[in-house]
Amino acid sequence: MRHLLSAKDLSRDDAILILDTAAQMAATQEREVRKLPTLRGKTVVNLFFEDSTRTRISFEAAAKRLSADVINFSAKGSSVSKGESLKDTALTLQAMGADAVVVRHWASGAASRLATSGWMHGSVLNAGDGTHQHPTQALLDAFTMRKHLVTDPLGNDLAGLTVAIVGDVLHSRVARSNVQLLHTLGATVVLVAPPTLVPIGIDPWPCDVVHTLDQALDAYDIDALMMLRVQRERMTGGGAAFFPSPEEYSRIYGLDGARMRRLPDHAIIMHPGPMNRGLEISAEAADSPRSVIVEQVANGVAVRMAALYLLLAGEEGAA
Ligand code: CP
Repeated sequence: MRHLLSAKDLSRDDAILILDTAAQMAATQEREVRKLPTLRGKTVVNLFFEDSTRTRISFEAAAKRLSADVINFSAKGSSVSKGESLKDTALTLQAMGADAVVVRHWASGAASRLATSGWMHGSVLNAGDGTHQHPTQALLDAFTMRKHLVTDPLGNDLAGLTVAIVGDVLHSRVARSNVQLLHTLGATVVLVAPPTLVPIGIDPWPCDVVHTLDQALDAYDIDALMMLRVQRERMTGGGAAFFPSPEEYSRIYGLDGARMRRLPDHAIIMHPGPMNRGLEISAEAADSPRSVIVEQVANGVAVRMAALYLLLAGEEGAA
């Protein structure tokens, strides 16, 4: 594999190789000296056209811990604001010698365009494109589930687990990537959303769909409950067109303490961040001992180290 563009491109073996490699990377991060020499001499460009905290910082940390040189590009404050195109930005960064480009863009398909255009020669890693894909988020989520929920020492995948993904599925690249990867890894996926926030054409997706969180808590033994951010910036009218009011959304889809206590004892609470506390998740749930939300961020570094390593170190690295 040369690029990491979509969770759909990953076979079960690909995904397990990345998760196993991430486990090895995580182990190296427990050592006193956390830096590995593996990508010395390689250059990784972080190309961010859309805001990010977790993904941008963890890709930067991952590349630096593998000893790569890192160039950070943010569209804000760059010549993009003077009208420079994606193509000219890419050609400029290629001229500086990028071995890999990590791209986040507001347009669905931007990462794929970069990978197939020939504007850049290196590997392309999709760090989130529009409402389309966020494959490293799905991988770090799977890594987190495997760590907490798979006790069988021979269990590589997530077979037998039930994962409920709740909220603004329509605008969520995290949901799309997770549905695909979780299905590949054998988990059962339940999407929970109001009909207005369910994508048109969802029928072929490999998941169940229900329309209230209470219905999902009644009908499924949930092992991982993943709350999604309500993406008000992608909604005209600040959300009013999709649900009557924030209070009503919280009442039907929000995870509060009472709903959290209805989960099985071993179940974990996840959120990709950033959270709208008080809207899709209460502080009690977000900060509870069963929340793995902060750990997801830490696991993101190990997973992104694995992805960079496997793409840039080539066959020698994969071996
Ligand atoms: N989960 C996620 O993509 O967060 P950021 O937008 O902060 O990168």
